[in-house]
Amino acid sequence: MKRKHLIAPSLLASDFSDLRAVSRLLNESEADWYHLDIMDGVFVPNISYGMDLVRVFRRLTDKPLDVHLMIVEPEKYIPVFRDAGADMITVHYEACRHLHRTLEQIRQTGAGAGVALNPHTPVSLLEDVLEDLDMVLVMSVNPGFGGQKFIYQSLSKIQRLRAMMDERNISAYIEVDGGVGMQNVERLLQAGADVLVAGSSIFQAPDPMAMIRDMKALGRDFTEFV
Ligand code: DX5
Ligand code: ZN
Repeated sequence: MKRKHLIAPSLLASDFSDLRAVSRLLNESEADWYHLDIMDGVFVPNISYGMDLVRVFRRLTDKPLDVHLMIVEPEKYIPVFRDAGADMITVHYEACRHLHRTLEQIRQTGAGAGVALNPHTPVSLLEDVLEDLDMVLVMSVNPGFGGQKFIYQSLSKIQRLRAMMDERNISAYIEVDGGVGMQNVERLLQAGADVLVAGSSIFQAPDPMAMIRDMKALGRDFTEFV
């Protein structure tokens, strides 16, 4: 039985001049989470926004806030992002010297703990922390920018991660982020993704609400209606 997947629109591609309208749209839509990309200009070659914007969205929605930290030394900022309203906090494998400690730190705040893998980072490196996380984020582009081209090797990476998790009966989410759109959603779901992050494909669509609905409808398991 297939699990129902979640849609997490990435606010990076939204209209910053009217965030109230953005959140109104997302609140009324079938979007499951808000995905917030925090970039520091050091871990990635771009700077986005910080905890204050997380705080703004906390006031604008009851939906879970999925905070993706693309920053060095993320352990320094976990309490402040949690305090700002993050429900899921994802750190990059490549940015953590003591990943196990950082995951514990996230869980101790009460947030869900996620680890993101850059395209070059193999899933096998997570073998010894799989029990200690709530989500693995597979980057399907190099982090730093929206609107990039999906890297197709990510599909087999997700498959391998799914197999690794199934074998050990681990129910953490598998999230995929970067270049996700209608052209690859079905294949991503088949490969084993649970959470689809999508920025430009949603916010640049003529009707973002319909795009979210379409992404949510794909891969639906109809056996439940038989
Ligand atoms: C990239 C970010 C993504 C980004 C995705 O570093 O982590 O969340 O917003 O944007 P799209 O969906 O446009 O590739
Ligand atoms: Zn992201």
